[in-house]
Amino acid sequence: MNAGKAIFVGNIKGGVGKSTLAVYLTDYLRQRYQRRSVMLLDTDPQGTSFEMLQPHSRADDIKFLPIGDRYDGVSMTTLDGILRRMLAQDDAVTIVDTGAGKLGNVWQMAMLCSTVLVPTSMSWTDLRPTIDFIKELDDRKEDYGVVNPHVIVVPNRTSPSQKNFGQLAEALEEVNAIMAPPISDLSVARSHSREFNGIASVAGTRFSEEIERLGEFIIDYVISGELDRIYQSA
Ligand SMILES: Nc1ncnc2c1ncn2[C@@H]1O[C@H](COP(=O)(O)OP(=O)(O)OP(=O)(O)O)[C@@H](O)[C@H]1O
Ligand SMILES: [Mg+2]
Repeated sequence: MNAGKAIFVGNIKGGVGKSTLAVYLTDYLRQRYQRRSVMLLDTDPQGTSFEMLQPHSRADDIKFLPIGDRYDGVSMTTLDGILRRMLAQDDAVTIVDTGAGKLGNVWQMAMLCSTVLVPTSMSWTDLRPTIDFIKELDDRKEDYGVVNPHVIVVPNRTSPSQKNFGQLAEALEEVNAIMAPPISDLSVARSHSREFNGIASVAGTRFSEEIERLGEFIIDYVISGELDRIYQSA
């Protein structure tokens, strides 16, 4: 099993909050683990998360490696090398942000990762493609006879008053995935996308609390190796 952990943030559906969650989660884990290396790899040619987090990162803790629809051997080889090096490194955590769309050129990266984090809203226009996306991952894992990456769905932009996630839980019964604590639709998450100032700048808000709760969930299940243990003994 790998010593380091890599979390691939992906969904075939665009605009579901991949980059937002990738940057806040990276920043949260960096504050939480001051001595660990927490790397952000942005593979989306739009470079959203790189642009947000780069001013707040050390040069060796963030990389922009755009992977477009056309095969780019150089980016792919660099990305593969960094990911494998990080995975071999004890305690290292890597977050990979990706563009929307079919896994295409990046699916090999997804298969290398410990976990795929899949944000989705609760609307069926997002949920249907999300379930199909997870099915595709399930099929690949079955083809290869592997249990990684584990899939974690993050309900994002949920109504702040929503308490019941039974409908999502039911939809997830068709696939191999677990559900993370939700992130509400909150203006502070939106307004900070352009002028991102890190998790500290939203301290005391509900959004900050929810990111913390999600971060702790990731620590408990992914970084601690709990999901690996559960799936190994299954
Ligand atoms: N919890 C939230 N509350 C409010 N707004 C949010 C939340 N999460 C994301 N957003 C907003 O939704 C929009 C899309 O988010 P984001 O760019 O993170 O999605 P994405 O999945 O990375 O999109 P793309 O597929 O284009 O890469 C952004 O304007 C972002 O600020
Ligand atoms: Mg994005």
